[in-house]
Amino acid sequence: MSFENLIVETKDGIAVVTINRPEKLNALNDRTVDELDAAFAAIETDPAVRGVILTGAGEKAFVAGADIAELATQSPVEGRDRSIRGQRVLGRIERLGKPVVAAVNGFALGGGCELAMACHVRIASENARLGTPEVKLGIMCGYAGTQRLPRLVGRGRALEILLTGEMVDAQEAHRIGLVNRVVPKGELLAEAEALLRKMLANGPVSLRFTLDAVGRGLEMPMDEAQTYEATLFGLICTTEDMEEGTKAFLEKRPPKFQGK
Ligand code: COA
Repeated sequence: MSFENLIVETKDGIAVVTINRPEKLNALNDRTVDELDAAFAAIETDPAVRGVILTGAGEKAFVAGADIAELATQSPVEGRDRSIRGQRVLGRIERLGKPVVAAVNGFALGGGCELAMACHVRIASENARLGTPEVKLGIMCGYAGTQRLPRLVGRGRALEILLTGEMVDAQEAHRIGLVNRVVPKGELLAEAEALLRKMLANGPVSLRFTLDAVGRGLEMPMDEAQTYEATLFGLICTTEDMEEGTKAFLEKRPPKFQGK
């Protein structure tokens, strides 16, 4: 699959998806959002891909937001449609069933911050700056940022970021839990890969079910979420991976998971 604004490279089970409009700080125009949708749809069903790193091209930005040039002329109906489309694409990433690590290599603003939050974990380089400056433009988050940010950092901290529109630097983002860790700029992709490889050494079905239990469970009342977890736990007891993982432990050898 070839794209105008994305580079997708797959090696040893990991797809590195790079948003590639560096001259516009990787701003998400409609075409890029559609390409992300197509790329993640393909990744979802590609057995050769077990995990994903999402990053931005160039030295400065992960993604500096939705493309303001497109937003500037939108009608109310177009704005609503754009919001729904963006929410759907980010939802696809969140529900991929394979771990997605955002390697935040610079500005992650507006839609870029929302995109990073739809990934399962975030690693930032020391020069990263995150925020939701939409309010400075007279608009607001439209890719579920008003929902994911409070879930990640708590309501008070989220509202400070959402209402001031001010950026937080990498260290502050780490302090409040917006990113999982901060690493030197030159080590970002290697660290993202190392973290992802640790995950991918585990049972693929375990990863899928855990992502599902956390993703869906957080949207349910505690009682229902626990019932859902127990159902998945029962289901995982039917897998070859469960048999192999437990047997390998008892036989004091590393497991060979097949994802079955
Ligand atoms: N949409 C469209 N174009 C964008 C963009 C966005 N969200 N963010 C940056 N760009 C473009 C700039 O217009 C500029 O294009 P040009 O060279 O054709 O004029 C290019 O990317 C470089 O950006 P520039 O502003 O010159 O870089 P900077 O280092 O001076 O500032 C930022 C960097 C991130 C502080 C600044 O670009 C910015 O505030 N961007 C918008 C952030 C935002 O509000 N995002 C939310 C959008 S909903």
